Amino acid sequence: MTTPPPAPVPDPEADHTAPAPVPVPVRPSPGLQGRTALVTGAAGGIGAACALRLAAAGARVRALDRDGPGLDVVVARAGCLAGTVEPVVLDLTDLDAAERAAAGTDILVNNAGIQCVRPIEDFPPDVFHTVLTLMLEAPFRLLRGALPHMYERGWGRVVNISSVHGLRASPYKSAYVAAKHGLEGLSKTAALEGATHGVTSNCVSPGYVRTPLVERQLADQAAAHSLPVERVLSEVLLADSAHKRLVEPEEVAEAVAYLCGPHASFVTGTSLVMDGGWTAH
Ligand SMILES: NC(=O)c1ccc[n+]([C@@H]2O[C@H](COP(=O)([O-])OP(=O)(O)OC[C@H]3O[C@@H](n4cnc5c(N)ncnc54)[C@H](O)[C@@H]3O)[C@@H](O)[C@H]2O)c1
Repeated sequence: MTTPPPAPVPDPEADHTAPAPVPVPVRPSPGLQGRTALVTGAAGGIGAACALRLAAAGARVRALDRDGPGLDVVVARAGCLAGTVEPVVLDLTDLDAAERAAAGTDILVNNAGIQCVRPIEDFPPDVFHTVLTLMLEAPFRLLRGALPHMYERGWGRVVNISSVHGLRASPYKSAYVAAKHGLEGLSKTAALEGATHGVTSNCVSPGYVRTPLVERQLADQAAAHSLPVERVLSEVLLADSAHKRLVEPEEVAEAVAYLCGPHASFVTGTSLVMDGGWTAH
């Protein structure tokens, strides 16, 4: 007589429709003491989480954004961490200033970004130019500013916040997709050039993350499709994602911290894809 198989135990993580897990807390886990990190777009969802996570690891973080009041909120949240967070108010489309701002950093997190959703024939050329300037040319200029110090010290970490749209296209996002594909290429080139100097360069490429950028897209698409927000999420934004939930900013920040940490020194020129299975298709 054969023993019947045990009854399956429900696993909340196996449920694709399960709500997002409780965000990973920003906890003190030193390891980056003595390192200076520059995080761009640090007043926003992912950037703030990265700045706080790196500060929790002991880094001296320069949190850069054009949104000064937003940075003040992040600085206030950093009070009890092992490292520090210092605000740098700057518009990164000032490329010369961006390059100067990156001098003296050991860790560069290229994160600032914007989105514009429009068919190519209606896409405003000036917006296309701004997206490429902010999301591709500024990272290049920040690298130019940061690499001499990293090379001098024989250690550096570059993490580029790309996207599933650095690997796959979606209609109506021409500038964003072009910028992110370019960023993936820039990241690989930096990896090859930096290898002999102890510098790694990688992308973190998430699917949709729960941030103001996505909340805005959800509201816009709900209006455009005359659908409730929940249906826009599962049927439009996450149509290609096997997991039907948003990624939390803290999950992205944890990936960034891993790439900056001691166990990732051999990881370079690659993309850590956090897309709920989107690119598995
Ligand atoms: N939210 C997502 O679903 C998602 C998914 C994949 C990748 N990303 C990428 O993650 C990065 C951060 O996105 P987010 O969702 O946190 O967006 P967000 O809108 O919450 O934050 C973006 C930040 O960039 C800043 N910024 C914009 N233009 C700037 C400029 N000219 N100079 C300086 N700062 C500027 C904004 O002030 C804002 O604080 C972006 O590169 C985005 O493409 C986001």
